[in-house]
Amino acid sequence: MSEAKPIILKIGGSAITDKTAELAAKTEIINRLADEIKRADLDNLIIVHGGGSFGHPAAQRYGIKDGYKDPSQKIGFAETHHIMTMLNGLVMDALILHEVPALSVAPSGCVVTENGKIKLFDENMLKRIMKMGFTPVLYGDVVFDEKMGFTVLSGDQLVAYLAIKLKAEKIVIGVDTDGLYDADPKTNPDAKPYKRLTLEELKKIQGKLGKSAGTDVTGGMAGKIAELIPAIEQGVHVTITGATKSLSINRALLGKDVLGTEIEKA
Ligand code: IPE
Repeated sequence: MSEAKPIILKIGGSAITDKTAELAAKTEIINRLADEIKRADLDNLIIVHGGGSFGHPAAQRYGIKDGYKDPSQKIGFAETHHIMTMLNGLVMDALILHEVPALSVAPSGCVVTENGKIKLFDENMLKRIMKMGFTPVLYGDVVFDEKMGFTVLSGDQLVAYLAIKLKAEKIVIGVDTDGLYDADPKTNPDAKPYKRLTLEELKKIQGKLGKSAGTDVTGGMAGKIAELIPAIEQGVHVTITGATKSLSINRALLGKDVLGTEIEKA
């Protein structure tokens, strides 16, 4: 049973799905990540995964992010959540198969936002889950919003919120590139990686960070960074590394050197 400060792992939707197609899960990567998580053997881990080509296209089709405007969106809200539970099911299958005692927690059932920002989330349930030695698994989801009726909550906002609330030791973000670059490394061979960034440096390069290759209702890499900044401001260390590369996530979880970007307040 763990009372240690949590380590929060965000698995980006770009790493575990093909964002250029719809409902395209990368099951080998999901399985390898489950193995790496098992091998890290952490009893203070919280996992959050993104939506990728599951949540984003459905959320986009029904305009869920912009809030409730028309009853015809209701089926879209339900469908987007359901599609997220399908991706979550694949992640849960892999974790449990690898004997990680993972427990799925649906944000749509326990988080309320106000104008897109988390307003209500009782973290005591998560604390209890962890205290009993389980690994909670959350995900970007549709949520009810006090002002907009409903909206989309990104996994990244959840990560930053939990990191601050639970005084996390660190955040590890697994994406489909080896960290942050000064240009898109997928289209620009001259793109240079950032190895280490302070909060001030991060804020300066924020505008340069790329858009997603596919549909992304939560703003691509720039959107992710904007969500993470409040946690970095509170002194939480962030490692961004490639979840598609073997052992990067395992090493980052264990605090070992990885190809990627380390972000610190100063
Ligand atoms: C998006 O979550 C969730 C939905 C679209 C319902 P994220 O914004 O965390 O997903 P990724 O990591 O960018 O795919």
